[in-house]
Amino acid sequence: MRNSTLFGALVAAMALSLPAAAVQDQAIPEDDLGLSKASVYDTPEPAAFEYGDKDAGTVGKRAARSYNTAPPMIPHTTKDMVPITRDSNLCKDCHVQPDMIGQKITPGIPVPVPASHYVDVKKGELYMGRWNCIQCHRPQADVKLLVESVFDKKAAHKK
Ligand code: HEC
Ligand code: HEC
Repeated sequence: MRNSTLFGALVAAMALSLPAAAVQDQAIPEDDLGLSKASVYDTPEPAAFEYGDKDAGTVGKRAARSYNTAPPMIPHTTKDMVPITRDSNLCKDCHVQPDMIGQKITPGIPVPVPASHYVDVKKGELYMGRWNCIQCHRPQADVKLLVESVFDKKAAHKK
């Protein structure tokens, strides 16, 4: 039984290595190796980009998540809200609203920080390890995607 499994694995490995050997003979052009569409020996200047400048509450829409459990991107500007210090955190003023968890959030209303961010949700006591919001949440810039995310939240939750 064990021998036949081993033999099967060998045949499978040989079958797999055949097309790989054929592909190895073809050289990939330097311009096709990376995502930048330039030779890998060049140091291309990345295109300049700017973050969105819409004020919080005026965007009214949330960004699609890139994968399950991804920290959502910040859809509004963070200008004048950073740096976040131990004593000053404007994000907290709008988003730390434990009473709003589970409520229907209409566009323009700050999305409440989820229960995972608290030490004690009832007391509204934020976990200090989450104090620096921009450690995980980042504002969005309108740039051309190099690789599009095909993550589908609904499909991912069906499994
Ligand atoms: C003046 C209130 C206000 C402040 C201050 C604020 N936000 Fe927001 N935030 C909002 C509102 C309102 C939304 C919903 C989208 C909109 O209309 O702009 C939002 C959306 C978000 C979202 C998207 C949530 C999701 O599920 O898609 C994140 C993340 C976020 N903010 C993080 C932050 C961080 C981090 C800071 C601090 C740098 C911050 N916000 C400061 C009001 C605020
Ligand atoms: C260590 C990383 C981390 C830090 C720091 C952090 N978050 Fe999050 N946040 C996440 C992740 C991951 C999620 C999505 C999963 C979840 O619900 O826990 C999330 C979800 C959210 C959401 C969306 C809730 C929803 O229902 O869609 C908001 C709003 C938010 N965080 C705001 C904040 C604010 C404001 C701060 C700072 C006080 C903060 N976060 C700090 C990782 C972080």
